[in-house]
Order: sequence, then structure tokens, then C-alpha cells
Amino acid sequence: MKLLEEIEKRHSGRAYANTPVSDDMIELILEAGRRAPSCANTQAWNFIILKDSQARDKANEALSGGNYWGKKAPVMIVVVTTPDGGCPAHKLPYFMMDIGLAVENMLLQAVHLKLLGHPTAGWNEESLKETLNIPEEYRIATVVFFGYPGDMEHLSDKHKEQENGGLDRKPMDEITHWDGW
Ligand SMILES: Cc1cc2nc3c(=O)[nH]c(=O)nc-3n(C[C@H](O)[C@H](O)[C@H](O)COP(=O)(O)O)c2cc1C
Repeated sequence: MKLLEEIEKRHSGRAYANTPVSDDMIELILEAGRRAPSCANTQAWNFIILKDSQARDKANEALSGGNYWGKKAPVMIVVVTTPDGGCPAHKLPYFMMDIGLAVENMLLQAVHLKLLGHPTAGWNEESLKETLNIPEEYRIATVVFFGYPGDMEHLSDKHKEQENGGLDRKPMDEITHWDGW
């Protein structure tokens, strides 16, 4: 028994090549997202796909300084939701869980296609919404970058180090509670 290879290999990479990603690949990634489970099948997700273009240059301006590396990734997918678009159970924001499931599906599909994927929260929501004409009632949940792995030249020393780093996770016994808390 072993972990799925895609799970093992996935990491939030920052070293992207300029090589374009085919629309067929992007469509597979989107299909993986669309097939995710969601609370009462509410599917509270919308995906805005930005490739190398003028729209992309404008969207890049909304990225936080720390996410400079995202400008080089050839594909940017902006994941949009409405806070009331999901399931209201337990007064928990299940729409965010639904989106998380969709995004992880997309990231794993990307690994399967030998691509890197990286979800982010570092961008200016207001300016991105304006650039992309996103209606007022919608929120941007995450911006995910995809592309082929490339060289690390343009990365900061910290990011170079992280690119080669291993798995940084809490120990299993700190987060698991068998037969009760
Ligand atoms: C919702 C969310 C927001 C994130 N935002 C950023 C971000 O703005 N910039 C960044 O470099 N990484 C971001 N990350 C990536 C995390 O830092 C990364 O997943 C975490 O350090 C674990 O590393 P790994 O994904 O390589 O296993 C984000 C991840 C998630 C799930």
C-alpha cells in the first residue's frame, strides 16, 4: 500500500517555465475541479481562466509583492464564489470547503499532467474584481497558478530554498485522535 503518486509529488511550486500550457490540459484541470463533491451539490464555484494576454498583465498588477513569481506562470485561474451560494449547514462556510475540494482536485490533476500548481491568497481582491468585471456579490476565494516547472533564477533565496524543501507538516500524533479527542 502506498500514497497516491500525485499526492506525494504535489507541492506549491514557484519556479515556472514560460512554456504555454495547452487548452486541452487546462480543460482537464477544470474538469477535475468541476467533478469535486460539494455540500448538497451546490457547486459554489466559478473559474476565470487567464492565459498570456493583456488581461493577464492587468491581473498580475493585483498580486501581492510576495507573489511576484506568479507573473511567470502561464496560467492563472481565479476561483470565484458567492458566500450564499453554498450549503448553510451548521452555519459553517461550506462554500469554502467545496472550493477547497475543487482546487485540490485541480492541483492533483495538474501533477498528473507533470505541471506545477500553486493556490494563493496574496492579491488585492478589489482591483482583481474590477479588472475581471466580477459582479459585486461575488468573492474571490483563491487564485491558482499553473505551468510547467522551470528554472529558479528569478526566485528569492527564501523561495529557492522552499522549492527544494521537503514536507513541512505537523506530526501525525499531534493532529489525530483515534476513538475520541
Ligand atoms: C488558501 C491558500 C492560500 C495560499 N496563499 C499563498 C500565497 O499567497 N503565496 C504563496 O506563496 N503561497 C500560498 N499558499 C501555499 C502555501 O503556503 C502552501 O500550500 C503551504 O506552505 C504548504 O506547502 P505545499 O503546498 O508545498 O505542501 C497558499 C495555500 C493555500 C491553501
